[in-house]
Amino acid sequence: MLNAQETKLVKDTIPALRQHGEHISTVFYKTMLRDHPDLHNYFNNVNMHTGKQPRALTSLILAFASNIINISELTPKLERVAQKHASLNIQPEQYEIVGRYLLRAFSAVLGPSMTPDVKLAWTKAYWVMAKMLTGREAHIYREFEAWKAWRKFMIYDKKNETIGGSIVSFTLKPVDGKALPTFLPGQYITVRITVPGMKYAQLRQYSLSDAPSPDHYRITVKRDQGTNWDYLSPRDDMTVSSAASSASDSSIGSVQPCRPGIVSNSLIDEFHEGDTLELTHPSGSFHLNPNVDTSMPLVLISAGVCVAPLMSILNTVVERRITRPVSWIQASRHDAPFQAHVEKIAKKHPNMRTKFFKSRLSDSDVLSYTSTFDNDFLSLTAEDLYLSNRMTEYYVCGPEKFMIQASNHLQRYGVQPERVQFEIFSVGSFEMAHD
Ligand SMILES: Cc1cc2nc3c(=O)[nH]c(=O)nc-3n(C[C@H](O)[C@H](O)[C@H](O)COP(=O)(O)OP(=O)(O)OC[C@H]3O[C@@H](n4cnc5c(N)ncnc54)[C@H](O)[C@@H]3O)c2cc1C
Ligand code: HEM
Repeated sequence: MLNAQETKLVKDTIPALRQHGEHISTVFYKTMLRDHPDLHNYFNNVNMHTGKQPRALTSLILAFASNIINISELTPKLERVAQKHASLNIQPEQYEIVGRYLLRAFSAVLGPSMTPDVKLAWTKAYWVMAKMLTGREAHIYREFEAWKAWRKFMIYDKKNETIGGSIVSFTLKPVDGKALPTFLPGQYITVRITVPGMKYAQLRQYSLSDAPSPDHYRITVKRDQGTNWDYLSPRDDMTVSSAASSASDSSIGSVQPCRPGIVSNSLIDEFHEGDTLELTHPSGSFHLNPNVDTSMPLVLISAGVCVAPLMSILNTVVERRITRPVSWIQASRHDAPFQAHVEKIAKKHPNMRTKFFKSRLSDSDVLSYTSTFDNDFLSLTAEDLYLSNRMTEYYVCGPEKFMIQASNHLQRYGVQPERVQFEIFSVGSFEMAHD
């Protein structure tokens, strides 16, 4: 632990580091990946390119330093990171590399203010945090038991969940034929594939979208249309043309840009029944609480493909004949994935209510889509949200703006934040985005 003097040195430098957060992120990742290019096999290049990942890491370190006396406040954030790291198979020895480059980036920003004492204090602070993460990750890896790192799965079934085929479910069976571990409904796996033209392995998380089963898992993937893609800024992990693949590293990235939505489009267009891909063990901190009183109502709120983890929760509740009252609230732009399935369940279960909100806006009108939900939310009744029961649990998954609106409405209705769980299909937790 840090002594009082070290804590003060760390805290005194936080404002300067916060002010130059972007610079730290750029220096840190650029130099680390330049010297350790194998780490490209772990990091999602899009999140690096857009700065989301560096920002998430730096903001957590600074939040940690600000809360150094009261670290327990950060537990949910650390848990999300440890679960994500475990899903990516991050190992303790890699913390040494990350720490070295992060502290160098701090020095670059602080200049002469990074005295030997300040550096020592920050090194200690980094390792307090690293130890907390590696300790928790070691525990998670022990729970994974025999399934370490990557396991091969075969695509057993591939099914369109929407008329246009923009959302597709994959039923996956392990090639080794051994029983699959159970998971907590709401959790995700990481998929690893190689994409022609890309130098490094591509890793992405996908929520498990069905109840646990010992012989298969199901994921549901949305084709990313790449509406945010900056066509003028090719990424540094691309070797798109054959000329580029034989060229020197400095030419990589100067060739034609790769198409957007690398993994989702590859999975949907190029992976067929019988093909194989690799997965890590299920993990994640967004999940159905397995130890609660089954009379507590459950409110499941989703938008678009973010219905996937909630589908797993609902199917599990139904399969286990849990008698909790359930309210299903689903927003979608066109046809809602799984709507017919959910309606069939609702018909058989008198204690289940459903609301489907459809927006008639075009694909490109993503921002207005969110404001539509704001109005839809106002049309929900106290019964739809089980507001009279102080024990109701809420699970929300959707685009960030959608979740902000859902969160604001729930707060306005007096729902305590600890009863609401959010899942974000990106880096950085929803809570982090609102600090
Ligand atoms: C916990 C978790 C669970 C998830 N569950 C699901 C799920 O169940 N189903 C699902 O479909 N997805 C899920 N996701 C999202 C998924 O992991 C992928 O992020 C998603 O499929 C997009 O990946 P991609 O490779 O297709 O797109 P990427 O190639 O990673 O691109 C992502 C976005 O960035 C844009 N982009 C690309 N390059 C640039 C650039 N240079 N500058 C600016 N923008 C750029 C793209 O246009 C695209 O819109 C989940 C994510 C998390 C973290
Ligand atoms: C104290 C040290 C570290 C901190 C504070 C930290 C913090 C974070 C945070 C905040 C995220 C985003 C999590 C989310 O999705 O919400 C993240 C993701 C990630 N971290 Fe770490 N991390 C640390 C060490 C490491 C190490 C040692 C590695 C190994 C190389 C690593 C690799 C990754 C990867 C690959 C991701 C996912 C990136 C993506 O999907 O874009 N991290 N980390």
